Amino acid sequence: MLEIKDSVAVITGGGSGIGLSLAEYWVKQGGKVVLGDIAEEPLKKAKEKIEGMGGVAEIVVCNVTNEDDCGRLADTAIEKFGQINLVAPFAGIIKDGLMVSPDREGKVQMKMPLSDFKMVVDINLTGVFLTVRECSERMINNKCKGLICLVSSTGSLGTAGQISYSSTKAAMSVMPKVITAEFFRRGLSDRLRCIAVAPGYVGTDMVKNMNQKALDRIIENVPIGRLIEPEEVAMFVGDMYKNEGIAGDVYFIHGGLRLGSKG
Ligand SMILES: NC(=O)c1ccc[n+]([C@@H]2O[C@H](COP(=O)([O-])OP(=O)(O)OC[C@H]3O[C@@H](n4cnc5c(N)ncnc54)[C@H](O)[C@@H]3O)[C@@H](O)[C@H]2O)c1
Repeated sequence: MLEIKDSVAVITGGGSGIGLSLAEYWVKQGGKVVLGDIAEEPLKKAKEKIEGMGGVAEIVVCNVTNEDDCGRLADTAIEKFGQINLVAPFAGIIKDGLMVSPDREGKVQMKMPLSDFKMVVDINLTGVFLTVRECSERMINNKCKGLICLVSSTGSLGTAGQISYSSTKAAMSVMPKVITAEFFRRGLSDRLRCIAVAPGYVGTDMVKNMNQKALDRIIENVPIGRLIEPEEVAMFVGDMYKNEGIAGDVYFIHGGLRLGSKG
């Protein structure tokens, strides 16, 4: 069993939503946080909030698609706190739309722009790869013990209108298997674990900014009758961190949502 007290979490997307909730949870349990985000103002507010709670937070303005930025983020944790115990690469975006949209006459009038598709892949997939690679390097070189916790989604099972998002979140469910197998080969898997948590619909800005009708339709299909709270995802990550029996797979937190696309 791992203790959160005095452990160090590196969290991207730490300026808002699930990342910020995880940071708050972590410091409440006695841990320290290094928060990375591209949005400077929310990041500064996050630091104030954490410090107002009596917690310790370092912040790094960074773009997770940039190799040097991810290296700087990982270095900050080692320089300030000497270790990394949790890596939570939670920075992510959605750019939803149909791949091709035929009109009433059956002719395609609109296609998803390549730039939209690539932006989602760059942030949600390449950004995670870079964050995890840079943090893993420091964790191994500094003999750290802990968890790499990716964030997948129920969208990983295939949601219409989310070809880019669903594809990147499906990748998050295979990465823990690859990384765990690679660490196992190198004799590291007893101290470095990797998993993904896969939330359903969580009440952060990403979801609350959806049109109300679409949101109502979503909630109608959630057996617990509401969105998951960001704090519930944070607690879930904490439980996964503490429990060293959990490794190499994807774990859902979705309030009983029936999985898979309904079209
Ligand atoms: N909200 C949900 O229902 C839900 C469900 C399943 C999975 N997730 C995943 O959880 C993660 C967090 O989602 P959220 O709802 O908290 O979203 P959010 O929009 O509140 O937070 C995402 C954060 O990522 C940051 N970010 C975006 N691009 C970045 C970049 N290039 N570099 C650094 N930071 C960047 C944003 O500034 C923002 O602070 C995402 O990966 C999302 O896909 C969310």
